[in-house]
Amino acid sequence: MPSERNVPTAVKGAPDWLPPDAAAFDFVESTFLAVAREAGFERVRVPIFEHTEVFLRGVGGSTDIVQKEMYSFTDKGDRSLTLRPEGTAGIMRAALESGIPRAGALPAKWSYAGEFFRQERPQAGRQRQFNQVGIEALGSDDPYLDAEVVVLGWEALRRVGISDLTLRLNTLGDRADRPGYLERLNAYLDGIDDLPDEVQQRRALNPLRAFDSKAPGMDAVMAAAPMLSDHISAQAKDHHAVVVRLLEAEGVPITHDPRLVRGLDYYTRTTFEFQAGNLGAQNAVGGGGRYDGLAQDLGWPEPFGGIGWALGVDRTVLALRGANALPAPPPRVAVYVVVAAPELRDDAFALVAQMRRAGIASEASSDNRSMKAQFKSADRSGAQHVVVLGPNEAERGVVTVKNLASGAQREVARDEVVEALSG
Ligand code: HAM
Repeated sequence: MPSERNVPTAVKGAPDWLPPDAAAFDFVESTFLAVAREAGFERVRVPIFEHTEVFLRGVGGSTDIVQKEMYSFTDKGDRSLTLRPEGTAGIMRAALESGIPRAGALPAKWSYAGEFFRQERPQAGRQRQFNQVGIEALGSDDPYLDAEVVVLGWEALRRVGISDLTLRLNTLGDRADRPGYLERLNAYLDGIDDLPDEVQQRRALNPLRAFDSKAPGMDAVMAAAPMLSDHISAQAKDHHAVVVRLLEAEGVPITHDPRLVRGLDYYTRTTFEFQAGNLGAQNAVGGGGRYDGLAQDLGWPEPFGGIGWALGVDRTVLALRGANALPAPPPRVAVYVVVAAPELRDDAFALVAQMRRAGIASEASSDNRSMKAQFKSADRSGAQHVVVLGPNEAERGVVTVKNLASGAQREVARDEVVEALSG
């Protein structure tokens, strides 16, 4: 046996998706995208890397993402670039760069899917390369849009089969509400003895980050802290009340969570997270919110807000697998061609090409194997029908078509087999 020692391995935390799991991945991703499409969100594709500045200014310097998790590098032109850790900042960059705010016809409703990168400690459900499907509705501060976006996330997760689903909802008010509240929060934290170093460090960057701390004892400390949602403007309160009313009318159960601050600095007003019940620590299958100050953080001179979410494809597959709720992978082909004699392989080759042109998913055995081995492959392919090409049949200008489920078989003229298997 040759040694396998020198074969490179995948980068830690970067998963391979192989058959049949990749089919589950595609099912989740395409279902999320279908829900977005049905609601009028148009697909966009933006680069997988950006100037680092987009995330420094967009996601925010106080966040764990920017502090610890970005894959940043200097390219040969001495530019600092970063593999995208999330989608919203890049989408906003693209919208501003292409003049969307002044193009009219707002909101622009966009969807996206693809790879994202964070140098987190890998564990179940937490990877360094992962996939999201996201939607962003840009250029409107209408609370109906917030509610619509949340409902779509809920529907998307239900449609793929997540049954144990929780929506955690909060409002972070407007930016103008922040300084007064942070003063209260700081005063409260000042009064706590022995605040862990980790929390002091987080606090120095942004006192809101204290809510993300997992340090022992902090849960109780933060439960008793003043909550941002109690210190927001009347307009932000009204906005939230409309969102709550619409979600309730839609029958979406809400878990109000005043401690949900989310790990990105751009959020204002509506913030939310979707959790799957069976995932353990990494149970957020999606999250999102409104980001009315993001455009200005990126240097845009006028207010230009938006709201959106991103759903984690990998984590959703994990949740579905854990609940035994993944659909069976679709059959690879509909028809499998078995060849009884080597001289008939050319005809099998032609027949498969003909069937594929007619839109029939099909394949033929790819080497000279026994009939038994070919039938085994046919079974594994998931094909409904097998076409057997045999020498006797070939002389009579016919083939045998066998229904693998029922076992029934019949002879069909070679010239008519494609038609017989269509429809
Ligand atoms: P996020 O909450 O950071 O939000 O990520 C959204 C989802 O991506 C998470 O709920 C999770 O399912 C998945 N995810 C995040 N990190 C990982 C990881 N290391 N491994 C596996 N899955 C992960 C955002 O990214 C915002 N851009 C969402 C948004 C859109 N807000 C407004 N618009």
